[in-house]
Amino acid sequence: MLRFLTAGESHGKGLTVIIEGMPAGVPISVDYINEELVKRQKGAGSGGRMLIEKDEVEILSGIRFGKTIASPISMIIWNKDHKNWGEKMSYEKQSGEVIHSARVTEPRPGHVDLPGVQKYGFDDVRNVLERASARETTARVAAGAVFKQLLQREGIEIASHTIQIGDITLDKDYTFDDIRKTYEKDPEIRCIDPAISQKMKQLIEKTRKEMNTLGGVVEIWAENVPAGLGSYVHWDRKIDGQIAQALMSVQSVKAVEIGSGVSAAGAVGSVVHDEIYYDKENGYYRKTNRAGGIEGGVTNGMPVVARVYHKPISTLYKPMNTIDIETKEQVKATVERSDICVVPRAGVVSEAMLAYVLARNFLERYGEV
Ligand SMILES: Cc1cc2nc3c(=O)[nH]c(=O)nc-3n(C[C@H](O)[C@H](O)[C@H](O)COP(=O)(O)O)c2cc1C
Repeated sequence: MLRFLTAGESHGKGLTVIIEGMPAGVPISVDYINEELVKRQKGAGSGGRMLIEKDEVEILSGIRFGKTIASPISMIIWNKDHKNWGEKMSYEKQSGEVIHSARVTEPRPGHVDLPGVQKYGFDDVRNVLERASARETTARVAAGAVFKQLLQREGIEIASHTIQIGDITLDKDYTFDDIRKTYEKDPEIRCIDPAISQKMKQLIEKTRKEMNTLGGVVEIWAENVPAGLGSYVHWDRKIDGQIAQALMSVQSVKAVEIGSGVSAAGAVGSVVHDEIYYDKENGYYRKTNRAGGIEGGVTNGMPVVARVYHKPISTLYKPMNTIDIETKEQVKATVERSDICVVPRAGVVSEAMLAYVLARNFLERYGEV
């Protein structure tokens, strides 16, 4: 089975990924992995870590002469910012004085700071926030770039675009080709409509000045997915369930929609389901894709379409009220360097997670292709 693990803290030495189950002979471009990493770093609303470091992957194993060799793939992305965090993130035993001065005791609402401390009995929020940070998604994007290269060999392409930031929404028809060009044409927002993109950017800048944060919606689209991935025979093999879990695990995602699932709940069946047609050249096909390419937990040959709903970022430069875990007094939450809106650059993270689910199910159905 295809699986992957990530390790690493936000200000630790680096982020590691191990992928197991990739078949042999898949061409892997390291440049492609690095291009995907840049997509995760750049975008309107980002907090500027890109200015400190440009992520680059180093392959440690599993790839030889540009192709996978079936053994586990391991990769590392060094945190160049670690040099500024040496003492605070030291792996060595430290004196009580150093440990005390490095402590964070004001948990931020909306982060796992307080539940993490409660779970593990820590007296230092940094033990939690370092791993919970979305810096971890760097490792997921590197893994996703490997899965995408397997899918690309089979003709399956994945792209995403921004369809909402705050209350500004995209209201226009589009094709897969429009979506895949958004990064190139509009790297800041990744919206297919330049006028809407401009409004989204203005809203981010206004919100930055107000020292507040924004959420939004990204749509992820996979093209040329064959019918028959996933299964209806058992709950945990349903591919819509697997996709929902994978996308929901992305930091700040609070809802996942497959196809037009949300509006479908308020409509009548005759305008929700996709009628079935057949011709000799195309086989079975649909004129609409409201199901988002999945019926009963199985892909139906139409593009797989999912939407992820991101909440506004939790770290506020005008911090909210919290309780100091040491003194139990009411204080303002701690402020770590932070973004204003992650939506544009989060799309590539969701693409990586969708790539993982599709690649795993593809290998399950077709074996070691
Ligand atoms: C690419 C990306 C970057 C993020 N950057 C930040 C950030 O700079 N500041 C912040 O407070 N939250 C950021 N988040 C969101 C938090 O990591 C997330 O809200 C937090 O870990 C709590 O998890 P939850 O929102 O999934 O419950 C980011 C999320 C993603 C996907």
